[in-house]
Amino acid sequence: MTARIARITAFEALDSRGRPTVAARLELTDGTAATAHAPSGASAGSHEAKELRDGGTRRGGLGVLNAVDNVASRIAPALQGMVFDDPSTVDDALAELDGTDDFSNLGANATLAVSLATTLAVAASERTSVARWLQPEGDLLLPMPMVNIVSGGAHAGRSIDIQDVLVVPHGAKSFAEAIEWCADVRDAASAMAVDSGVPGASLVADEGGIGIPFASNADALRFVVEAIERSGHQPGEEVSLAIDVAATQFFADGHYRLDSENRALSASELIDELARWIDDYPVISIEDALAEDEWRDWVTATRLLGSRIQLIGDDHFVTNGDRLARGVAEGSANSILVKVNQNGLVSRSRAVLDTARASGYSTVVSARSGETEQSWLADFAVGWRAGQIKVGSTHRSERGAKWNRLLELEATESTVFASTQQQHGLPVGSLAAAPAPTR
Ligand code: PGA
Ligand code: ZN
Repeated sequence: MTARIARITAFEALDSRGRPTVAARLELTDGTAATAHAPSGASAGSHEAKELRDGGTRRGGLGVLNAVDNVASRIAPALQGMVFDDPSTVDDALAELDGTDDFSNLGANATLAVSLATTLAVAASERTSVARWLQPEGDLLLPMPMVNIVSGGAHAGRSIDIQDVLVVPHGAKSFAEAIEWCADVRDAASAMAVDSGVPGASLVADEGGIGIPFASNADALRFVVEAIERSGHQPGEEVSLAIDVAATQFFADGHYRLDSENRALSASELIDELARWIDDYPVISIEDALAEDEWRDWVTATRLLGSRIQLIGDDHFVTNGDRLARGVAEGSANSILVKVNQNGLVSRSRAVLDTARASGYSTVVSARSGETEQSWLADFAVGWRAGQIKVGSTHRSERGAKWNRLLELEATESTVFASTQQQHGLPVGSLAAAPAPTR
């Protein structure tokens, strides 16, 4: 099909934190249309593509009317009438129009909303889903979910220093079973928190996890292991732990400040601490173990821990091809988090994911802490055969929308669930004894 862009409009929408975000609607000449909302992070890496916020006093400075205006007055006139076979042609035009590496001219929230809407509109025009448009033939690979149970850091008033304690239901045989087990653990965790005297009303953080204080970060790990047990599942056998340290958030003056424990650690002390957590708890994945730019310490951590667990670069790589290339060359991390708004374009995010996979890194497609009710992320994770997906908890509908879309694909399409190490890339299962991913 050769599509032609008929009209692009934009407006300011609300995200899951009630903050403004860019919505772009793209209409094709055949009458199909799609609207996409840009997600937004709270613990964003400093090297991400730049979202444009208005500043000033309106909406606490977080308004996006300038980005919306950029879609209307600069992007729409440049793309209107454009003929294209592939959305990457539109992405290339957006990159050229912006002219910067980080989209600081038009705003990455403006370019991403248009980029997303293009893919959604093209799939709709071909009367197929985004997942099937990306992979027209064969079984679709449903990703292993990574589900938030306890939230800390910037998503929960810094009740603990680490940002997420998550569960990975790697013993499940289907996506439906996987998400059911995670919901069981989340329910057990809620009940445990209420039993310990925490008011029920305070149990839903930005990503739907429980955001309550613990005496130490390790206590939060212990709490989630107990929740797994209470839910009737086997820690380490069926369900294991993943951690997003989000270490950049508490790194200052060369030290990692664990305020909840009143301690400040050097990089090597933090790596030792993480190694102890891996010894003591069934931890199989750690994200942003170190601050975003501490390349040498990242390489050390990868050498020491990379054969035992998945080490994910989120703020470290920011879905950026150059940063990933450096990581591959130096031996930093063995996995990448892919967030389309860190990059600013859908096609370039996909290229980064493909390069990571070709370099032996596992790939985790991820939502942001600021999301909307849209579910396209699930289709991209499937269509790109990511292997893993991280969306937040089983609470809050902007999270559920993605899980429900994956459940819908499992119910309606020919699918396989990423249940082996080869498919999801985690150091568990049939190939657990094999060496860590090589670079
Ligand atoms: P963010 O957090 O969307 O607030 O950046 C998500 C993450 O760190 O994985
Ligand atoms: Zn992260």
